[in-house]
Formats: sequence, structure tokens, C-alpha cells
Amino acid sequence: MTLLPLPPETRQDPAAPPPPGWTPDSWRDRPAAQQPDWPDPQALRRVTGTLTLQPPLVLPGEILDLRRELAGVAAGAGFLLQAGDCAEPFASCTEDGVRGKLRVILQLAIVLTFGSGLPVVKVGRIAGQFGKPRSRPTETVDGVELPVFRGDIVNGPEPTPEARRADAERLLRAYHHSSAALNVLRALTLGGYADLDQVHAWNQESVRRSPAGRRYEQAAEDITWALRFMNACGVDTGAQPVLHQTRLYTSHEALLPPYEQALTRYDEERHAWFGTSAHLLWVGDRTRQLDGAHVELLSGLANPVGVKVGPSTTPEELLLLCERLDPHRSPGRLVLITRLGAGRGADLLPPLLRAVREAGHLPVWACDPMHGNTFVSDGGYKTRRLTDITTEIGEFFAAHAQEGTHPGGVHLELTGDDVTECLGGDLDEIVDERLATRYETSCDPRLNAAQSLELAFRTGEILRAHLRA
Ligand code: PEP
Ligand code: CO
Repeated sequence: MTLLPLPPETRQDPAAPPPPGWTPDSWRDRPAAQQPDWPDPQALRRVTGTLTLQPPLVLPGEILDLRRELAGVAAGAGFLLQAGDCAEPFASCTEDGVRGKLRVILQLAIVLTFGSGLPVVKVGRIAGQFGKPRSRPTETVDGVELPVFRGDIVNGPEPTPEARRADAERLLRAYHHSSAALNVLRALTLGGYADLDQVHAWNQESVRRSPAGRRYEQAAEDITWALRFMNACGVDTGAQPVLHQTRLYTSHEALLPPYEQALTRYDEERHAWFGTSAHLLWVGDRTRQLDGAHVELLSGLANPVGVKVGPSTTPEELLLLCERLDPHRSPGRLVLITRLGAGRGADLLPPLLRAVREAGHLPVWACDPMHGNTFVSDGGYKTRRLTDITTEIGEFFAAHAQEGTHPGGVHLELTGDDVTECLGGDLDEIVDERLATRYETSCDPRLNAAQSLELAFRTGEILRAHLRA
């Protein structure tokens, strides 16, 4: 498997020692936002103690491969596709569940690569995206006030006091579900399912009927033809692993510091600490406090780290965060994920891009067009419009074109299932009345496979136009 070609200035070893005074538990001296009340602190200690003894889910070598690939993206030589569930239910960590998500991600990646000519680095919100930040700690159901559902890693979604009680044993279950999902992912990405020969098989029956699905069939034909052409020219395509295997890195929001600390490991050879629950960890828009526990924890890990950048983020604040998390100005160490909302990019983005560039950081800039565009429909469903999502991506590219920075990627919430959670799309356009048909998310509304594909074609076109200009 080959990695992205790297520009010479980014070929440094990305593992750096942690900042002075940092330890895997130095976050404990800082306030941690969005934490459940663990009713049984002893159980929490017991479970995290057990986790400390488990094997890492991902290895330092893989984490550093991702850092090198992201350095290439940051330098303009690639594009990041980070995508997957908003909140993974434990029950989705099945072979079918993992295969379904992988299939859409592979489809989107091939569309983006084919459209833009750039290599695409694939990172799933998968195999560990179990915890959710919430806007309120409690909710009232049928007149009863209950703790909110914070994701399967903390409590259960059923509206009963028992289910909503935070249960530390769930941290252990999260570890085992991540491990099982990763096992399937590794098998599928190395064992033929991700083979370019399978490019037609990634298009599900339900998607094939849509205009984007038909367009995909055409692109797949062209790819198959190109492979035949290469064979005819004497290239032994069968002997090129890069055509037959792929790599999907994993990521999730590092919402629960006790869990992340329990999976932090020291690598003797590299003299660095690694978060081994996923390749990439990020802080959310609600957990990115400069002096908070989450930023402290991530500041000492050698993983690539993401920061969600919402509309309230000022350039000054962002610079302080960049300084905390990327003091060595290491290309691709940071993935800055802007989620501003449609209509706001033109005003808010350029000052952020400029400030970060002038301070000497070279992050991957990614656009999350989902989280700034959520609203409740007339029918009472939390939803998003595909048109708003496309608009935000357009504004992201325009701002980068204006500032001369690289629009490095997209961050999407999607599923391989044929759900009806977001509005719009050219296959039987989903309107408010249809949201109820298959509204299955346990948190935010996700794009279904056909909507995702439509968005990928649109993004590929914008990216190509951007690169040509
Ligand atoms: C998320 O990515 O699921 C999320 C909650 O995002 P944000 O922190 O940007 O609101
Ligand atoms: Co979400």
C-alpha cells in the first residue's frame, strides 16, 4: 500500500515529545465539559484500570502513517474524506453495518479521486464514535425529567431513569465493539472488498436508480476501462497492491477523557505518547475550551488531532488553540474542521484562514457542512437540507480560493442505509412529510447513500474547478 507522495519540507518525523508538565492524567486538573455524572466512581476506576491492560486498538506506526498522509493533504497534494455516523450505536458494529458504511466511503472516495485527480485520505467516523456532546444535561419526557442520552458509551437511549443512568461498564463494551468493528474493517480493506475490481459492486441497488447512482455507474465503467487499458499497455495491474487494497483510518470525538487516558500508550521507540483508541481524535465545538481537560489531553498525544471550529470561534481564540496543539508547526498535525453554517463562510472563514497561515501553522482545513445546518422541521424532525450542505461546501472553497489556502477536505455524517433523515436529493426528493419513513439516527440526521453520492459528485466538480484555477 503506498502513501501520499510528500513534499520535501513535510518529510520530518511527526512524533514530538509532549509539552512540559503534560502527563496522561494532567487533564484531571482542568474542567471537563460535557461529562456524565458517573454514579459509581469505584466502577469507573475499575473499568478504566481494566482498559489500561487491553491491547491498543490502533498502533503508533499506523497513526504516524496518517500524520504523514495528512501532511501531504495540508501541503495541497491530497484531499481528506472524513465520514461516518453521528453516533454509532453498539448494535451497528456488525459485519453488515461496517460493510455498509465502508461501501459508501469507498464510493465517495473514488468519485472524489476521479473528479479531482487528487489522492483521497479516508478517515471514518467509525469503530469508536460512541459518545455525544449534548446541548442540555437533561430532557423532559412525558413530564419526567431524565438525564439526556449521551451515546452508547455512556447510557442507553430508552427514556427511563435506569437506561439513562451513566454506566461505566459501557466503556469496556465500547472498547470491545470498536475492536470488533476494526477487525471487520481491516479484513474488508485488505481482503478484496476494497479492490478497484469491485468498483461496480459498491453501488447498491437502491442508489443505482438515482441520477448520481447512474453517473457513478458511468465513472465505474471508465475506471474499469482505464484498468484494461493499463493492462493492454503491459502494466501488470494484478501485481499492484495499491489497486487491490486500501486503508480506512478511524476517528472519533475524544469526548470522555477517562476512556482516552486508559487507552493512551507510551511508545519507547519513538519516545512519544499515542492515543490508541483511534488514529485521529478531535475536540468538538463544545469541548474545545483552551484551558479545558480535552485540549490538555490531546496536546500531549502524537496523533493527528482535529478541532471543530464553530461560528463563535474568533481568530484570536483559534490561534491560541493552534499554539497549544501544534507548537512545533508540524504540517498535518492539526485538522481544523470548520462548521459555520450556510451563508456564513464568506464573512467568518477568511480571517480564520489568514490568521492561522500567518502564525505559521499548516493544518488540514476541512469543511463540516453538517453541524451548522441542523434545524427542526415543521414536522418536528431534527434535519438538514442538502442544499444548505452544498452551499456551505461552495463557500468553503470560495474562501480558500480567496486566501490562497488549500481546501483540504470534507467531514460528513452519513450512513450506507437508505434512511430519510436529511431533506432534498434527486432520488425521490426527500420532503418533510417523508422524513418519518426511515428516520433512524440516534442523534443527528445523516445523509443516505444516494444523497452522499450526489454531494461527492458536486464536491469533486468544485474541487476540480478549484485546482484548475
Ligand atoms: C459531531 O461532530 O457529531 C458534533 C457534535 O459536532 P460539533 O462538535 O461540531 O457540534
Ligand atoms: Co453529529
